[in-house]
Formats: sequence, C-alpha cells, structure tokens
Amino acid sequence: MKRNLVLLLATAVSAGGFSLLAQLDDAAPFPKEFRTWAHVKSVLVGPQSAAFATEGGIHHIYANDKALEGYETGKFPDGSVIVYDLLETKEVAGNTVEGPTRRIDVMVKQGELYRATAGWGFMSFPSGNPAEGRLTAERQAACAACHAKRDDHDSVFSEFRK
Ligand code: HEC
Repeated sequence: MKRNLVLLLATAVSAGGFSLLAQLDDAAPFPKEFRTWAHVKSVLVGPQSAAFATEGGIHHIYANDKALEGYETGKFPDGSVIVYDLLETKEVAGNTVEGPTRRIDVMVKQGELYRATAGWGFMSFPSGNPAEGRLTAERQAACAACHAKRDDHDSVFSEFRK
C-alpha cells in the first residue's frame, strides 16, 4: 500500500516535470509544417553581397495564415508565425540548386508574452535543428533592434508579392 503511494507520487512528480519541459519547449516552438505555408519571397544572396558571410545562399520566407493577414493589413495578429529558411546553394549542371539548411529563423507574434521585443518572439535553429531554437534575451533584443527599422510594418521587412 505504502509502496503504491510512493509510486503514485513518483508518477505525479515526473508528469509535472514533463509538463514543465513542454512549457519550456513552447518558448521556442519549431514550426514543423512551415514548408506547406504561403511562400512570401526568395532571395539569392551571392558573394558580392555585404551580407554574404551570414546570409549567403538562398533564403525563402514563409507565412502561416495569421501572418498572411498581417502582410495584408500591416498589423500582425497574435499567432502569426514567419519563417526565414536559409539554405546553402550548389551548382549542378549549370543550375544553382538548394543545398543543406544553414539556419532557420522564426518570428512568432504574441503581443503580451514578447512585449520587450515589439510583440515578436525571435528564434534561430542552426542547421534547422528543431531542438536548438531558443535565443538569450540579448540575442532576441539584437534581432528586434534591426527589425525595428520596419516599425511602420510591425517589424516585418518582407512584403508579400501579389
Ligand atoms: C541587421 C538586421 C537584421 C538582424 C540583426 C536580424 N534580421 Fe531578420 N531580417 C532582416 C531583413 C533585412 C529581412 C528581410 C529579408 C528579405 O526580405 O528577403 C529579415 C527577415 C527575417 C524574417 C522573415 C520576416 C521578415 O521580417 O521579413 C525572420 C523570421 C527573421 N528575419 C528573423 C530574425 C531573427 C530570429 C533574428 C535574430 C537571430 C534576425 N532576424 C536578425 C534583417 C535583420
């Protein structure tokens, strides 16, 4: 009887532990389905670009349905998610094609939660690894500081090409 109680307690504690982990993970949710979202634009960043060291390759920007509303109105509602998918390029038979993922940057709009960074949570997944997206507050502030150049467009640089 006593043993069962201990087991029960142990189960309760580990279940609590899991839900805490889930909450922490929620701080950097990897948007698994983004490749099926709306494609906003792509840019090929070549060696002549000032941004080549960090942005060289091809990037595609994707928006979920909520973010599409934002591209329409200039004000992105809570739940908007935008993905910057950066890939290496390679030359194959005269064609420039996508190589391995360099990095996946994500912006998630939650006005209250991310008040310090204009309502956006910033995440960055090196090599697209879903387990490594969380950024320190300092790094998020650096993302937000540059994105603030577009505070006329709710901190979003890209425009949706019709
Ligand atoms: C020095 C300026 C600068 C910094 C710092 C910066 N970005 Fe950006 N970001 C840009 C620009 C410019 C674009 C638009 C690229 C395009 O239009 O193709 C962009 C695009 C994006 C997008 C697509 C949505 C949009 O605004 O068009 C996401 C998501 C993103 N960045 C995330 C991040 C994250 C996460 C960080 C920090 C780790 C970060 N950015 C840091 C300049 C910056």
